[in-house]
Amino acid sequence: MTQTFKLEQGPIGIFDSGYGGLTILENIRKKLPQYSYIYLGDNARTPYGTRSFEVVYEFTLQAVKKLFELGCPLVILACNTASAKALRNIQQHDLPLIAPERRVLGVIRPTAEFIGELTKTRHVGVLATAGTIRSESYPLEIQKLYPDILVTGTACPLWVPLVENGEADSEGSDYFVKKYINELLSQDRDIDVIILGCTHYPLLMKKIRQYTPSHIRLIAQGEHVADSLKDYLSRHPEMDTMCLKEGICDFFTTESVEKFQESASVFLNGPINVKNITLE
Ligand code: DGL
Repeated sequence: MTQTFKLEQGPIGIFDSGYGGLTILENIRKKLPQYSYIYLGDNARTPYGTRSFEVVYEFTLQAVKKLFELGCPLVILACNTASAKALRNIQQHDLPLIAPERRVLGVIRPTAEFIGELTKTRHVGVLATAGTIRSESYPLEIQKLYPDILVTGTACPLWVPLVENGEADSEGSDYFVKKYINELLSQDRDIDVIILGCTHYPLLMKKIRQYTPSHIRLIAQGEHVADSLKDYLSRHPEMDTMCLKEGICDFFTTESVEKFQESASVFLNGPINVKNITLE
């Protein structure tokens, strides 16, 4: 029998395949500190970026159901790959069946919305996982809003493993940071804005900045997603009242608690409450 979820009051759920979503969570908590949150990282099965559509959809749906079980009325897919490959199916096919009053939102649309104001040349680059690039979600979303913008994307399959393995600041990562930026810019010399279309990439920001010409603006998503969530909650008071406001944040990982605690400390100040969880 299909498990169903009634609307109830609870924390906002934030999901990513690993640590990348913490860059979104931090921005959201800065902007909306009064709300309670549950962060879920599927660290045991990361990366998602090289996986098929079917697998990313299956894993993401499992995570959304787990966050519903934990009481979340609203879930943010703080992962571009999951937003690109699973969000629409979950919104259109699963939610009406399992939780018609709950909501799941992604990170691609809120990022696309801001781009029109930022590019002067109307040439935009996207660096993202292979899955996000292959899905064409960025060109599709951006061109719906700004048909005059040309979007060029490059997949960076090694960046997430570098971040997940704590190698973001190592010398070895320079080669791959430079490689993908050059690949992107060699396809379109007029790019003046690059979207970091993967929530892990802000962790490589120092190096990405170093290898990107200074006239090109780099866009991390956190702030835009936080602004968009704030706007969403103000436009949907019925959802806002269901979101707990106790200022608490709990963390769940499918990997080891100790490893998560150690790696998450790169992003967060102070001790965090982490529990292990199984997704199936
Ligand atoms: N952080 C995720 C994103 O924004 C993806 C990472 C992965 O490949 O697992 O796309």
